[in-house]
Amino acid sequence: MNQSLVILGSQWGDEGKGKIVDLLTEKVDYVIRYQGGHNAGHTLVVDGKKTALHLIPSGILRPHVRCVIGNGVVLSPEALTQEIRMLEERDHSVIDRLHVSTNCPLILRVHVALDQAREAARGNAKIGTTGRGIGPAYEDKASRRGLRVADTADPASFSEKVRELMEYHNFILTKWYRTKPVDVESMIEETLDAVSYFGTAVCDTVDLIHRCRRDGKIMLFEGAQGSLLDIDHGTYPFVTSSNTTAGGVATGSGLGPRHIGSILGVTKAYATRVGSGPMPTELFDDVGKHLAVKGQEVGTTTGRGRRCGWFDAVAVRHAIEVNSMSGICLTKLDVLDGLSEVKMCVAYELPGGHVVDYLPSGDEYLNARPVYETLSGWGETTFGMTSLDEMPKAAKEYVRRLSRIVGAPIDIVSTGPDREQTIVISTPFGVD
Ligand code: GDP
Ligand code: IMO
Ligand code: MG
Repeated sequence: MNQSLVILGSQWGDEGKGKIVDLLTEKVDYVIRYQGGHNAGHTLVVDGKKTALHLIPSGILRPHVRCVIGNGVVLSPEALTQEIRMLEERDHSVIDRLHVSTNCPLILRVHVALDQAREAARGNAKIGTTGRGIGPAYEDKASRRGLRVADTADPASFSEKVRELMEYHNFILTKWYRTKPVDVESMIEETLDAVSYFGTAVCDTVDLIHRCRRDGKIMLFEGAQGSLLDIDHGTYPFVTSSNTTAGGVATGSGLGPRHIGSILGVTKAYATRVGSGPMPTELFDDVGKHLAVKGQEVGTTTGRGRRCGWFDAVAVRHAIEVNSMSGICLTKLDVLDGLSEVKMCVAYELPGGHVVDYLPSGDEYLNARPVYETLSGWGETTFGMTSLDEMPKAAKEYVRRLSRIVGAPIDIVSTGPDREQTIVISTPFGVD
């Protein structure tokens, strides 16, 4: 078996990646994050106990698993320190099982200020970011003025570099956005303080990953966000600032693309989106309310309500293609329980009546209307089911049809938030 497995989102995030990663890590040695930052919110439920993770990979609840934050992740030292402390308070050992790349770009307090100032300036055209400084930190990386974890090793030269960077950023904050400057010295101090908390975990993670590969360790690469939030392949400009798709695994961890094995897409049985941007299947009626309430569709990171709608097969097919997904983990099927009919979007109608089965770009997508296929709903509950045989006929038909329309096998069906509430059809490790 190829040792590497990728799990990532096929929609607009919050598909249930954390649950699936936690489930599959029983058979895994390392879980690696390779993009995004603490904009992610991954919820794990084990024996009824909930844990929300933002930066630390979702393998951390399994004591045998080691976790890696790869070079592609933008790292807020404060956010990481807070999360380590939260887990330690719950009696999970973290530092001795965590590896943080020297090359992670740092998110500083100024990036948060810039993120928020930019969103405020956009007004109605705002992206609806998580306000965590993700975009500005990636901008600093791409413009080659950003600072990395490795820069903190020498506090004196780090401080000088930050002071220089801040001449530019404070100019932008005060002169362009007409907002308050960020205090440079306290920002330097809080950053160095936070880094010292996890300093022993900092290492060359590329070297680590290749040693693991040579030693036959099983590695799981955990995506954050979803494929339609990808900076290149998503619904630009309403996207995040990283490559959330499978290509990001290689650049964000240093694993060569030829070493990637299975790529599983986590897919909600309906659609949700947080923030602005096109979502042709969004519902504003009682069904939308049903999905929001029953699915408890409130953001793990920001507490914002998620927009809800019918399953969008066109969008998921696009995700399957750009990621070369080998299979789908279908989550939250139980949320559809009790609906008299269920719909999936199989094409879009553009202004002028032209029907397409691909993702239109830019403003065209904002005006796309869904073309639906309607199936029977089911009154019975699927909540907590662990076998396909128990499933109501109409639910089974929905899963079968969905698989056929998107063109990928369904490997796992999730029927509740808990680790145990899962139907496993196939995994890269077999089924037992
Ligand atoms: P992630 O960002 O992809 O990890 O997803 P989130 O954790 O942000 O959001 C998914 C939410 O759905 C979490 O609250 C999970 O506990 C919950 N969840 C995951 N799978 C299922 C499922 O099959 N059924 C139900 N009802 N909830 C689920
Ligand atoms: P997980 O990993 C859902 C969305 C934001 C906004 C856009 C850009 O839990 O699935 P950013 O702060 O990244 O610049 O915001 O991306 N977004 C997410 N939506 N789940 C996430 O992560 C998200 N991370 C960012 O709402 O629309
Ligand atoms: Mg989430």
